[in-house]
Amino acid sequence: MKLIKISLITFLVVGIIGTSSTLLIAGVERTVHNLSVSGPGKYKAMRAVGTCTFCHTPHNANPTRGLWNRSLPGITYKLYESSTLEAKLNQPTGSSRLCLSCHDGTIALGNPRVGPKGIALGSLKGKTSLGTDLSDDHPISFVYDLDLAVRRGELADPLTLPKALRLDETGQLQCTTCHDPHTDKNPGFLAMDNRNSSLCVSCHRLKFWQASPHALSPATWKGIHPDPFSESRFKTVSENGCLNCHKVHAAAHPEWLLRSQDEEENCYVCHNGAVAKRDVEVEFKKFSFHPVEMSQWVHDPKENPFSMERHVSCFDCHNPHSSQQDVKGISLSGTEVAQSAFEYQVCYKCHGVSEQSFSSIRREDNVTNVRIEMEPSNPSYHPIVAVGRNPSVSGFEPGYTPSSIISCSDCHSPHGSDYDMLLKWEYRMEDLTSESYQSYSLCYRCHNRNSLLSGVSGFPHSKHVVDGRTSCSVCHDAHGSRKNPSLINFMVRDRTEKTIVSFSKSGRLDFQKVGMNHGRCYLSCHGSDHDPKEY
Ligand code: HEC
Ligand code: HEC
Ligand code: HEC
Ligand code: HEC
Ligand code: HEC
Ligand code: HEC
Ligand code: HEC
Ligand code: HEC
Ligand code: HEC
Ligand code: HEC
Ligand code: HEC
Repeated sequence: MKLIKISLITFLVVGIIGTSSTLLIAGVERTVHNLSVSGPGKYKAMRAVGTCTFCHTPHNANPTRGLWNRSLPGITYKLYESSTLEAKLNQPTGSSRLCLSCHDGTIALGNPRVGPKGIALGSLKGKTSLGTDLSDDHPISFVYDLDLAVRRGELADPLTLPKALRLDETGQLQCTTCHDPHTDKNPGFLAMDNRNSSLCVSCHRLKFWQASPHALSPATWKGIHPDPFSESRFKTVSENGCLNCHKVHAAAHPEWLLRSQDEEENCYVCHNGAVAKRDVEVEFKKFSFHPVEMSQWVHDPKENPFSMERHVSCFDCHNPHSSQQDVKGISLSGTEVAQSAFEYQVCYKCHGVSEQSFSSIRREDNVTNVRIEMEPSNPSYHPIVAVGRNPSVSGFEPGYTPSSIISCSDCHSPHGSDYDMLLKWEYRMEDLTSESYQSYSLCYRCHNRNSLLSGVSGFPHSKHVVDGRTSCSVCHDAHGSRKNPSLINFMVRDRTEKTIVSFSKSGRLDFQKVGMNHGRCYLSCHGSDHDPKEY
């Protein structure tokens, strides 16, 4: 019986289409693309009709491609758009128009141009109907040539694609590049199995992808929160690959075809504890946090740090295609770098290009551009971008020396913190704070409390910090000082606008270092006038 069928088809095909690759095509019988009464799907005719008839017409004298037996929709489709797309997209062309003649859901399925009429089949509904808005679908109907691959970068030379992935005879990428409508050997009529993103990476050669945790992690859903893989055949992060975050069709956020409408939700679906080890979502719900939920989709891979609107998103700090912070940044000298090599370069993208507008402590030298505060030419700075200026600092906790390099995230939690200013540990910045390990634990993580309070530096810290209840923040600027050694940059007003340190009687506000472990201050504070006072 089967043999008879196949030979019938062979006859049909050789006769009609004039090719011999027919045995493969016989498989269409067993797929939902067989709309005849014998078809396995939910859309099928009430009577026997040729399987091929729904797409191919036998009555066409011209034996080239495009023997489509469908009236093609005369619709203007909404096309995919993004700021990064290089290709010039056309309205659907070639075989994609055939697919859309059923899959845009506008035309009744049982309506071939030639052949049996009046087959009541209705039109496609639900998930398999892409609609006429194709902006949430992978781009189609554009020329994919070497020129595009070079202009875009991270794309394979189209001549090197696996045989299964075929561009049409005009070199265009179509629905049929990814799908073979004749066989569901790979589920979803895919031309190639997409386990571990093998389909996607045949074309997309993302620079850091192969080593990234999203390409490699065997993690599965842990049974809490919604299952991010509920619509997928694959159950691990590595098997899902690109489709952990992207959707080829019906993407909730059309630009870049992302799965979730809320920017950070694309990541939280797993980084809320559902799949990934750590629950990162809770970190953004702490007392202070980077406001990733506030600025939806302002971030753009093409943005210019010097003119972009204020915002922050996961993708500003993490390259989702990598394992590291391979994102844009700003260098020490204030110029843009395409890939940050250091964490501070990422932070400088937003905190090192201009003065910060949010209200904060006011200091004697009130610069808030962190890059300027930490310039290695300043008299003092915490050693982040370069080794510090003072080789004789002592009293460190184990692990630190005057030649250590530290990072922004040694003091700040980049996501969020229970403490103010994203600080990793408590640091009381208000005047008249009672000294304890807890009050200044941020500093005491690296600077031994006993050494400091017993006077290693020559400065009577104990007298000021313990007896006078003066916060470190009143005298020191945790980032650096453009004017003084020892990170001295006095706080003139606290965050409530209260005056803290002011001019001495003679009108001076000054710190002078007079040799090792000696210095002199001109100022007025806590009702005491130093005009000057020496230690
Ligand atoms: C759902 C629509 C659909 C059905 C049903 C269908 N085809 Fe096709 N067929 C296509 C499309 C689209 C192409 C063009 C493929 C391309 O451009 O790569 C095609 C191309 C072909 C080709 C050219 C060789 C090739 O692979 O490019 C042959 C031969 C063919 N079809 C035979 C058949 C036969 C025989 C049947 C019935 C058993 C059939 N088709 C059913 C859509 C269909
Ligand atoms: C004659 C109408 C028709 C044409 C033309 C057609 N399809 Fe389909 N297609 C269907 C029907 C009917 C289904 C089953 C839908 C359902 O069950 O919801 C389907 C299902 C699919 C599915 C989903 C299969 C699955 O297992 O989930 C894919 C993918 C698909 N078609 C791709 C294509 C592509 C690509 C083309 C063009 C080459 C095409 N179709 C042309 C009618 C058509
Ligand atoms: C870049 C590759 C690619 C292109 C181009 C492409 N598809 Fe798909 N399509 C896929 C993949 C991958 C899936 C499976 C999605 C999944 O597993 O989540 C899919 C799924 C589908 C489905 C099943 C419904 C669904 O959302 O899962 C239909 C129907 C479909 N495609 C039709 C089309 C049509 C029609 C076109 C052309 C307008 C097209 N596809 C173009 C890769 C592609
Ligand atoms: C046959 C090659 C091919 C396959 C397979 C393929 N793509 Fe593409 N994809 C392209 C090309 C070419 C572009 C257009 C790039 C451009 O014009 O800048 C593109 C564009 C995209 C875009 C939009 C890029 C932008 O800048 O807006 C996304 C997202 C994307 N692809 C994801 C995927 C995913 C996920 C898969 C696997 C399911 C996949 N692609 C499979 C070739 C392919
Ligand atoms: C962890 C989530 C995630 C995974 C996994 C992922 N992407 Fe993306 N992708 C994104 C996000 C988010 C964007 C949005 C652009 C941005 O801000 O960088 C994006 C943008 C893109 C773009 C367009 C912009 C650009 O940077 O080129 C392409 C193309 C793309 N992804 C393809 C892929 C392919 C192919 C894979 C699998 C090999 C993949 N992505 C895996 C999240 C992901
Ligand atoms: C489908 C689940 C899933 C999605 C969606 C996802 N991730 Fe992941 N991610 C993981 C898993 C699993 C790991 C491996 C480490 C682990 O288990 O915590 C990982 C690792 C990471 C790492 C590296 C951590 C390390 O230990 O080196 C970063 C950074 C990261 N993801 C960021 C993101 C961002 C940003 C997004 C959104 C654009 C995102 N992820 C979306 C599952 C996911
Ligand atoms: C301001 C920059 C910044 C933003 C915004 C940001 N991150 Fe991070 N993230 C970092 C840095 C720096 C690290 C490494 C230091 C650390 O672990 O504390 C990190 C670490 C991670 C890790 C690894 C944690 C682990 O150890 O398992 C994951 C996962 C992660 N981030 C996901 C996200 C997600 C998801 C978002 C958005 C909701 C996000 N990040 C937003 C800078 C950022
Ligand atoms: C893409 C931009 C962006 C990047 C990159 C970025 N931030 Fe932020 N940061 C912000 C925004 C937006 C705020 C909220 C206040 C504002 O609008 O200025 C903020 C606030 C802060 C605050 C003050 C929090 C408060 O409670 O007032 C600190 C501290 C901070 N960021 C540190 C960092 C560090 C450290 C890095 C690098 C790991 C970093 N930021 C990277 C945009 C960014
Ligand atoms: C992660 C470790 C670390 C933390 C936390 C830390 N420091 Fe430092 N600090 C250093 C290192 C390393 C140096 C040495 C720099 C040098 O030799 O110039 C230093 C130097 C200093 C200096 C002397 C600078 C000079 O040029 O003489 C002062 C003052 C200082 N820190 C104050 C503080 C205060 C106040 C805090 C709390 C807000 C703090 N530090 C938190 C590591 C740290
Ligand atoms: C030694 C600890 C330490 C390091 C390292 C550190 N910060 Fe800070 N940062 C603080 C403290 C403490 C504050 C609170 C304000 C103050 O004390 O003046 C702060 C405040 C901030 C603020 C809020 C605005 C402001 O200036 O008051 C931003 C933004 C900031 N830091 C960014 C950074 C960036 C970016 C880096 C890395 C280049 C960094 N910080 C490194 C301790 C540190
Ligand atoms: C009243 C002002 C004042 C306060 C408050 C203050 N300091 Fe200092 N600190 C100084 C001065 C002045 C020096 C410079 C001493 C010298 O080398 O001449 C200094 C030096 C230091 C040094 C360098 C030590 C060395 O070995 O060279 C560290 C570290 C330091 N302070 C940390 C702190 C910490 C932590 C706090 C809060 C617990 C704090 N300071 C509070 C004024 C102050």
